[in-house]
Amino acid sequence: MLYLDHAATTPMRPEAREAMAPYLDADFGNPSGLHAPSRRAKDAIESARERLAALLGAAHPLDVVFTGGGTESDNLGLAGPCLAGSGRGGVVISAVEHEAVIETARFLGRLGCPVRVVPVDRFGRATPGDVAAAVDESTRVVSVMAANNETGVIQPVAEIAAAAREANPAVLVHTDAVQAMVSLPVNLGLLGVDLLTVASHKVGGPKGVGALVMRPGIELEPVIHGGGQELGRRSGTHDVAGIVGMVAAAEAAVFDRDRFGRDVGEARSRFEAKLTAAVPDVVFTIGAGADRLVQHSHFRVPGISAETLLIRLDGAGVAASAGSACQSGALEMSHVLAAMDLPAEEAAECVRITFGWTTSPHDGDSAAAAVATVVGDLR
Ligand SMILES: Cc1ncc(COP(=O)(O)O)c(C=O)c1O
Repeated sequence: MLYLDHAATTPMRPEAREAMAPYLDADFGNPSGLHAPSRRAKDAIESARERLAALLGAAHPLDVVFTGGGTESDNLGLAGPCLAGSGRGGVVISAVEHEAVIETARFLGRLGCPVRVVPVDRFGRATPGDVAAAVDESTRVVSVMAANNETGVIQPVAEIAAAAREANPAVLVHTDAVQAMVSLPVNLGLLGVDLLTVASHKVGGPKGVGALVMRPGIELEPVIHGGGQELGRRSGTHDVAGIVGMVAAAEAAVFDRDRFGRDVGEARSRFEAKLTAAVPDVVFTIGAGADRLVQHSHFRVPGISAETLLIRLDGAGVAASAGSACQSGALEMSHVLAAMDLPAEEAAECVRITFGWTTSPHDGDSAAAAVATVVGDLR
């Protein structure tokens, strides 16, 4: 099988598996207890917290909140500050955010928080000026993703953060760095943000675990209430193995970033060059038009629907996707492509191929050959 859907999820890195093993077995204690097995589990979490804080530029380990994944971190990153102190702070988001951000903003809107959605250009980028224009006195959180999950387009987050603060120095800037973290340097300082969301399973850790990393002193209203773990910011018994695995995977991904960039970059160049040679009318949505993550290729073959192409590719042992499948697996019109002003007929043809840490440069050739064969058969 040729797996080309690493943005959906990527295989577990061996470093994560090895780090997790003791906590799935002998060191099974609940970290919130008073005995030795609990202490071992708690030590593992606090060591993971220190390492993730260092990796993502948090001033203090306690500025890391472990969560149940990227979705939950996004919820907490927006709702946490907006609802803190029984407030109803406003949010400003870009039109191409992940559903975890968009739906949280909608939820906050239903609670009475002012919500503004900033449009994007034809490559899916929000401009600092448009974001600043949407910020006003009521704005508490601005959330713009580091890179888009469908197209891989990179947002000018640091410039957006600076412009937003100029418009209102009290705003907090959150970024969803779930897709960016595997191939770009990601930390609070570099991105100039106050809150940052990461997810384990996109960097080679287990699913169902993530983190929200913050600058010091940010008050959060929890979105999950209960026993008061994570200083009351996120209740629930910790997934010890998951947390340890996420941090091991994140460290391995950072260590592996240069090699990843070379191999994946080579695979994508070969894929796009060979597919263009074999199917001259193929259209790459982003191409050289904007900065994009090295692992993403987003394209359409005129006259062939994404659904048809993906089903045929699956039949040929190739796993790819169209950026937006809903829970049932059916393809929906992508809000990202709609915001980029792509006509619905073209959006319905768009396919996303994403390479990952297990990709070799040669996989780019195989991917192009597979797509070209399917297109040839269909035509
Ligand atoms: C940009 C982005 N944000 C958030 C998420 C949600 O993360 P999780 O699957 O860990 O809930 C994803 C996953 O698809 C994503 O790509």
